[in-house]
Amino acid sequence: MSTHELTSSSFDELVSSSSVVFGIETSCDETAAAVVMGGRDVLSSVVASQLEIHARFGGVVPEIASRAHLEALTAVIDQALQKSGIGFNRIDAVAATVGPGLVGALLVGVSAAKSLALVLDVPFVGVNHLEAHLYAAMLDDANVEFPLLVLLVSGGHTMFVEVREHGQYQIVGRTRDDAAGEAFDKVARFLGLGYPGGPAIDAQAHLGDAKAINFPRAMINDGLDVSFSGLKTAVINHVRKFPSVATADVAASFQSAVVDVLVAKTLRAAEHLGARTVALGGGVAANSLLRSEISTACARKDFRVVLPSLAMCTDNAAMIASAGWYRLRLSGPTSLDAGAYPNLGLTCAI
Ligand code: KG4
Ligand code: ZN
Repeated sequence: MSTHELTSSSFDELVSSSSVVFGIETSCDETAAAVVMGGRDVLSSVVASQLEIHARFGGVVPEIASRAHLEALTAVIDQALQKSGIGFNRIDAVAATVGPGLVGALLVGVSAAKSLALVLDVPFVGVNHLEAHLYAAMLDDANVEFPLLVLLVSGGHTMFVEVREHGQYQIVGRTRDDAAGEAFDKVARFLGLGYPGGPAIDAQAHLGDAKAINFPRAMINDGLDVSFSGLKTAVINHVRKFPSVATADVAASFQSAVVDVLVAKTLRAAEHLGARTVALGGGVAANSLLRSEISTACARKDFRVVLPSLAMCTDNAAMIASAGWYRLRLSGPTSLDAGAYPNLGLTCAI
């Protein structure tokens, strides 16, 4: 692999507004398949979550995830095709997440997608999961203008991405330690709220007082990077010192600290880059406080804000098929020799 940037649409003839891409996503704990036409018209999107399987372990167990993908994928593919109302003969390309993610889990989806592409005699497209989260932000909004600043916040990543054009990205800020979703998950586990932590903290926070505890907002006035590891430690120290503190107050105060930092840095990054549109992507983009605070802050600055629907925030295959359509147009088909790349970066070529 090499790091590169795409500057032109060299494979325009391969895709059109009526081209249909079948997408497969198995990078972590959701087995998903979807059918998307023209890069944005979602004909079907099926997600089988493994949450219940992993919940009792407090996090995703890689070996169990691979096996669960194997067991679920065929049925999920069948369902996606059925719901789309079209036949396999209308599929123009098959896209699958090739990274980043759990290697065993990725390989299940990549192998299935290659086999399907071979059987249907259509191109295979390897998709970068991070790039797909950027496209999820754009799927629900046909009028997104570049340059666009995307706050990509998931369980594994937290980054501020400047999108200059399709395929042209620059990471302008990122977490120096824990991803925001990871912080939600770790704090939730410590508070006994279960896995995944984000939705549990979001729900608890509605019952608590966000001003009850003044948790640190690390680096809030300093550059475009963020850090959440100190905040996690501050939560743990506070609860150990005041064991009778209300869990809802801790959840609300923690969530407020994370959101304050993310909103401040997103706005700073957009202003710095001259971007007038801000979009959210990734599982943490489902957070209710983040959605309302970013909307208020953007309205104040007269920025346009793009919030993906909740289903498009967390992992799904519609975003893979959408990103696959654009990738096919920019770079053409991916070689069937391509494998799975667990540590694939956003700007790495496949
Ligand atoms: O994008 P995603 O589905 O998977 C990754 O690529 O990581 O994101 C999952 C992450 C988890 O850490 C989960 O706790 C978090 O997104 N999350 C939330 C919410 N819903 C999911 N975090 C905060 N608030 C939520 N409502
Ligand atoms: Zn994801």
